[in-house]
Amino acid sequence: MEQRTFVMIKPDAVARGLVGCIVKRFEDVGLAIERLEHGVVTAREAEENYKEHEGKPFYPGLMEYITSGPVVKMVLSGPEAVAVCRKLMGSTDPYEAAPGTIRGDFGLTVEANVVHGSDSPQSAEREIAIFFGD
Ligand code: RTP
Ligand code: MG
Repeated sequence: MEQRTFVMIKPDAVARGLVGCIVKRFEDVGLAIERLEHGVVTAREAEENYKEHEGKPFYPGLMEYITSGPVVKMVLSGPEAVAVCRKLMGSTDPYEAAPGTIRGDFGLTVEANVVHGSDSPQSAEREIAIFFGD
């Protein structure tokens, strides 16, 4: 099914100059870039996006990290775009993520795990509204 999803290249990856490599992974499988924007995530956007994790031990660190520097926000579209992006990203913890996935190839720790992607079509629409307002 044709879908859109929200993907964000996290601050550690932008700072390390990995934007091109990571965007290429998504383009290589044939996903279309609908929106692409560089900018800093506000505290309010971070809280909205990661609402489900409020109160967890890693939440304060996650808020600090995701607002710590510029990110690259994208809306990507294509068949089964949500699942395809999650597959390309790999497991949440880069240590567990398979080689060949974005987190497996470019990350080392779960705290700085390179990339975010919506986990369902519903999350995708919610997150696109938070970051792009539509
Ligand atoms: P994301 O939302 O960033 O795409 O990551 P995800 O779905 O694979 O993982 P999720 O469970 O939603 O966790 C959100 C982010 O919180 C950080 N985290 N740290 N220290 C920890 O145990 C821990 N667990 C999660 C990660 O940065 C993760 O991406
Ligand atoms: Mg998540």
